[in-house]
Amino acid sequence: MLIDGHGRKVTYLRVSVTERCNFRCQYCMPEKPFSWVPKENLLSFEELFLFIKRAIDEGIEKIRITGGEPLLREDLDTFIAMIYDYKPDIDLALTTNGYLLPQVARRLKTAGLKRLNISLDSLRPETAKAIAQKDVLSHVLQGIDEALKVGLGIKINMVPLKGINDDEILDVMEYCRERDIKVRYIEYMENRHANEALRGMHGKEILAKIKERYTIKALGREGSSPSFNYRIEENGYEFGLIDPHKHDFCESCNRIRLTAEGYLIPCLYFDEAMSIAEHVKKGDVEAAAEVLAQVLRDKPKENRWSEEKPNEEAISSRAFYQTGG
Ligand code: 5AD
Ligand code: SF4
Repeated sequence: MLIDGHGRKVTYLRVSVTERCNFRCQYCMPEKPFSWVPKENLLSFEELFLFIKRAIDEGIEKIRITGGEPLLREDLDTFIAMIYDYKPDIDLALTTNGYLLPQVARRLKTAGLKRLNISLDSLRPETAKAIAQKDVLSHVLQGIDEALKVGLGIKINMVPLKGINDDEILDVMEYCRERDIKVRYIEYMENRHANEALRGMHGKEILAKIKERYTIKALGREGSSPSFNYRIEENGYEFGLIDPHKHDFCESCNRIRLTAEGYLIPCLYFDEAMSIAEHVKKGDVEAAAEVLAQVLRDKPKENRWSEEKPNEEAISSRAFYQTGG
């Protein structure tokens, strides 16, 4: 069992397989980074898998593959199959922008993937284009259809932004309700890489928009999930709200992150990280497991996010595209 320094059981590993992305979302990577991590610094699937096997043996029950955009990594389905074959009952999920799904959804499903989180910030082509800085909507919608068709579980992520897509909160909900998919609204998280002009919506403001049409009932958090669930009384539809500016989910935090270069990150909001790269490159699983133990001992009690000074030292300088959010 993996227990951190504050007594929390860690069962969830997020693995970023690339920081590269084919979108340039205003809230994440509005400009191409000055330099990407050189390809030779990326851990190979074999190296990642060496660590993942050990992590599973020690108690990881859920793995989410993230990016950047993870579907840009070649042969990702073979990596998924490696994990699935090692432990078929592992909860194996992936977060994607959806653009490449029309081509690969079936292969992902066949490899053993169970669930997808897909970003859908707008149902208007022009707005989607303004956010991702690319004409993406038709590909993404086709990707969602294909993923549904092949039987992958889906959740939709939407980041409401003032003056951009805040008038689509109910439209996206309706789109999801019609397809029996859960939508989760994510509060925009300020970060040093995002377009400075963006104004996110507070959880309360998002709920207020929904309350203009519906009566909602708070249901509570689902286990260790950062998403707080609500139900629409009129039709029974359930949606989630991810409100990272709160600290109240930190006490049940069950997750750690691994970057594509091999850094183990105990908390999204902290710059501290330790690398397993050298160890897995040498095949030294014991040394990598020791790094994991150290990272767990050091895992902070709660995020350092501060509403008063979001752009100062309280916020990590690490980009979301390095950690997959
Ligand atoms: N604020 C909130 N959510 C973000 N994501 C990426 N950057 C941010 C941010 N600054 C989310 C996207 C996507 C997931 C990968 O991370 O909504 O669904
Ligand atoms: Fe790419 Fe996702 Fe970041 Fe958008 S939010 S730029 S799709 S990694």
